[in-house]
Amino acid sequence: MKKRVFSGIQPTGNIHIGNYLGAMRHWVASQDKFDNIFCIVDLHAITIPQEAGNLRVKTREVAGLLFAVGIDPGKSTVFVQSQVEAHAELAWILNCFTPMGWMQRMTQFKEKSKDQKGQVSVGLFDYPALMAADILLYDTDYVPVGEDQKQHVELTRDIAQRFNSIYGETFRLPEPVMPDIGARIMGLDDPTIKMSKSEERQGHAVNLLDPPDDIRTKIMRATTDSLREIRFDLKRPGIYNLLVIYELFTGRNRADIEARFEGKGYVDLKRELAEVVVEGLGPLQSRYKELMRDPAHIDSLLTDGAARVRPTAERVLAAVKDKVGLG
Ligand code: AMP
Ligand code: TRP
Repeated sequence: MKKRVFSGIQPTGNIHIGNYLGAMRHWVASQDKFDNIFCIVDLHAITIPQEAGNLRVKTREVAGLLFAVGIDPGKSTVFVQSQVEAHAELAWILNCFTPMGWMQRMTQFKEKSKDQKGQVSVGLFDYPALMAADILLYDTDYVPVGEDQKQHVELTRDIAQRFNSIYGETFRLPEPVMPDIGARIMGLDDPTIKMSKSEERQGHAVNLLDPPDDIRTKIMRATTDSLREIRFDLKRPGIYNLLVIYELFTGRNRADIEARFEGKGYVDLKRELAEVVVEGLGPLQSRYKELMRDPAHIDSLLTDGAARVRPTAERVLAAVKDKVGLG
């Protein structure tokens, strides 16, 4: 039996090379080793205001990108959260087993609610209970997430343990798995912060669907420092970040890369990096365009994905309801 991997991605903002290098690429590479489920979490997206038409467009776009980077619907499952009702239903039940104090400790809520200026929804506060439901519905072994989500996976374990201790063994306890340090891609305009989907500044991120000239402009304008030498030096975050992106796109080792740029300037590095990224994203962009010619096909892959996971989700939910005395 393969171990089950579950991960979620929000259909908001633009998917960027940080998402690709830090997450999607690894998902593709692990398809044979694990039983992967990827959920496009539209119910999480509405914890902050979304325009309906745009949410639908973004949901399909994320799906298209997942298939374009190489997620094979024959091996892995991709589905949309709101199409499997058990997520919302289990989230409600888990709410009733989650002490307020646990939820109040979540640091991401504190940060995200600051950006919302007075219009913070209860859903945003409760977001981690829905995430716990996502994970626990599928007897998940591993949850690949970024550092920022680790606390939510730990909360998921706590909720599962609490439920299990009251009703007996019901949920499998998931483990968070972090990508390696090299895969924390930083903002091009500010290499001291993580490249993020929610930053809207032009020049912050290279998005997977950016046209070649935008990629070139963004990389040429990336913030560096006033030194000269091109080395993997963590103390120089701008150059370090560009070198890491180069390393991950080319697969070359660090010594070779430093030798290659010996005596050259930042402009040379940026020029070459821009071409490496343009070429690296090219095949994915063509596959994406190809797929998008037939949106109905993408929708049908998503419907198939939901149909494939629904029985598992419903089985787990039924066991929970039975234990709690519902229905
Ligand atoms: P998010 O953009 O927060 O929805 O994250 C989707 C996935 O991409 C998660 O697994 C994150 O850990 C990963 N990810 C997001 N931003 C970065 C980044 N700057 N560098 C590496 N991985 C990232
Ligand atoms: N909260 C995650 C994020 O913003 C997305 C997510 C929702 C998720 N449900 C999940 C991630 C379940 C892993 C497992 O990135």
